[in-house]
Order: sequence, then C-alpha cells, then structure tokens
Amino acid sequence: MTILTDVKKVLSVVGARPNFMKLAPVARALTARGVEHVVVHTGQHYDPDMSDAFFRDLCLPVPDHNLDVGSASHARQTAEIMARFEPVCASEQPDIVLVYGDVNSTVAAALVAAKTGVRVGHVEAGLRSRDRSMPEEINRIVTDHVADMLFAPSPDAVANLEAEGIPSERVHFVGNVMIDSLVAALPAAQALNAPARHGVEKRSYAVVTLHRPANVDNPDTLRELLDTLAVMSKDGPVLFPVHPRTRARIHDLGLDSAESGMLKLLEPIPYLEMLSLVVEADLVVTDSGGLQEETTWLGVPCVTVRPNTERPVTCTLGTNRLAPAHRDGILNAVRDARSNRTPTAPAIKHWDGKAAHRIAAALCEGARLV
Ligand code: UD1
Repeated sequence: MTILTDVKKVLSVVGARPNFMKLAPVARALTARGVEHVVVHTGQHYDPDMSDAFFRDLCLPVPDHNLDVGSASHARQTAEIMARFEPVCASEQPDIVLVYGDVNSTVAAALVAAKTGVRVGHVEAGLRSRDRSMPEEINRIVTDHVADMLFAPSPDAVANLEAEGIPSERVHFVGNVMIDSLVAALPAAQALNAPARHGVEKRSYAVVTLHRPANVDNPDTLRELLDTLAVMSKDGPVLFPVHPRTRARIHDLGLDSAESGMLKLLEPIPYLEMLSLVVEADLVVTDSGGLQEETTWLGVPCVTVRPNTERPVTCTLGTNRLAPAHRDGILNAVRDARSNRTPTAPAIKHWDGKAAHRIAAALCEGARLV
C-alpha cells in the first residue's frame, strides 16, 4: 500500500541548481498545510552563483542540513551523498523523503531512503530520453523504480512508468512544478527588466545555456558550438551565462577570448534575472531541461542542442525543436524557430502553477491524481 494519508513530516533532498526551483513550490504547499518540512542540501552545487542566489530568489529558507559533498566523479559524489545522508535520514525519521528531478543527489537520497525503509516520493517522475549515455537517464530510471509515490509532470511520463511496469496506484499526474515556480516568480522577474541591465533591446537577442557533458566535454564539439554562437551573434546579441563546467572546458581550450562583438560570455545568472531575460528573448538555445519547459510555457522559441529529449511535449505541443551539435543543424533550427514563432503560448495540461498543491494533496489526503 503506497497511499499516505497522514503525512506529518516530510524531508526534501536537493543538491543541484535545477532542484531548487522544484523544491520552492512544494515547500510552500507543505507549509500551507502545516506539515513539518526538513530540507537537506547535499552540496552538489556549492558556488554562491549556483546555489545561494537561487535560495534567495526563490525565498527558500536556509537548509536544515548541508552535507557539503562538493564535486567528484559520479561514483564518488553519489556514494558520498549516500554515506552522509544516511545518518541524517535516520535521525530525522520523516514519513517520506521527497527527491527532485534527475541529478546525482536525487538518486543517492532515493537509494538511502528506500534501503532504510523510508518511503520515497519522486517529483518529476517518468521522464525518459531513452539515451542511457546521459547520467540523468540512469538517475531517473533508478529513482523511479525505488519510489513509492511518483509525481509525473506530463502524460508521456505517466505512459513511460506504465510501460516499465510501475503499478498505476503509485503514479500521480500532478503537472510541472518548474512551471509553479515560473508562475509565482514572473511578476518579480519582469519588474527587474534584465534586458535593459544587459544593454539589449527586448525581442532582439538570444539567450544561450550549454552545460551537458556531450556538448562541452569534447573539445571539437565545444569549439564548433562557440563558432556557431559567433555566427549567430552577427544577427543580434547572444547572451551566454556560462555554467562552471563549461567555463572550465573553455579555459582548458584557451578559448576564454571566444567572447567577441555581440557574443557575451557571462557568469551564471540567478533565477529571477534569467527568467527576466528569457521572457523577452527572441530565441533560446540550450541543452537544459528546465529551459525547454519554461520557453514552452512562455511561448519563446527554443532550440535544444541534443539528439533527444526526455520532455517530448515541449516539441509536440510547445515551442521547442531539437538540433544536432553542429553548425548547420543549429543555424537551420534557429532560422526555423524564429520564422515560426506563434503569437500565443501553448497550454499544456496541469502546467498551471498548481502542481505542488496536487503533490501536497496526494501526500496529506491520499488524493489519487490521474
Ligand atoms: C548537474 C546535473 C545535471 C544538471 C546540472 C545543472 C548530475 C549528474 N548532473 O550537472 O543534470 O543539469 O547539474 O547545473 O547530477 N561546479 C562548480 N561549482 C558548483 C558546481 C559545480 O564549479 O557549484 C563545477 C565542478 O567543476 C564540477 C562541475 O561543475 O565538477 C560539474 O558539476 P556536477 O554537479 O558534477 O555536474 P553538472 O554539470 O553541474
């Protein structure tokens, strides 16, 4: 029996940048119901730009525990999170551990909880790229298969879980918590007027993020991507907040001076400022999961530099299209995206700012959400 009706204490585990936007609305929904909520930060992301700035923008309280694991290989980082989380989980004795998304912190905490008999809830369950060369795909599959409550953002995610034999009573179609955060933050983000701060005209510029190992760890690929951005910048400003992983690879290649003309390499940008830039962008080029969803909800054209996506609704119903990591493929997709911009943003079921309320209802009332 996996339905909980009497949750009094929830423990959430987060660690990396995209987790924080997913935690914020869930934290608010649990607090509104008077549920005790303990937050554990694994320390997978630790730079102030990658962590503290997001806690501030999302009005998240300081975590109750910080495991301070830092960076390491996948095996070491995952193992270190497990070793450090086990005693915290044992002493806090939550009714359920919630994990978010698909990062190493997600799978590590899910394994600890499941093996010590604590129920696991997975927020953003069921997404599949079917590409096992992505570390995130392994994390998603393992987490979903040890979870007791699976909170799916979209019907394709529900179908994936069903196809893998996960009992349907564990699966709740709640919608997308990233969109909850976006809906809540949009007025404050727009008030920032980040385009003006960056000296660009609304609807005249592209925002770029690239950090996946497949795109940035191979020197030839990274060089070609930077060349492509330089070509794009001949048509208008290209703002590229650079993830620390990407920054290190650019430095290794001696390409720190790739910035030229209207191609700007920036430090990582906090949540509200990034949202403010994305809302008014002409185009987004990315390999991030969250941006594929945010651009779809906002109706901003998006080119995702990947051969596949675990978020297919952003392509079938939204504004997203995939492009291979080479110059012509990206430039064709950019042209196509710009010329097919539609005046209204697509509507996707349960991407409505209320996903976290549905999660809280499932936890506290045993509501079945299909
Ligand atoms: C991780 C997630 C990825 C997510 C991304 C968002 C995994 C397997 N990957 O990738 O799914 O899309 O976060 O950002 O969990 N670094 C810093 N400062 C930090 C954090 C990282 O300098 O605060 C550098 C370190 O050199 C580190 C590298 O970035 O080795 C990679 O960090 P890591 O957390 O291992 O993976 P991400 O690429 O950030």
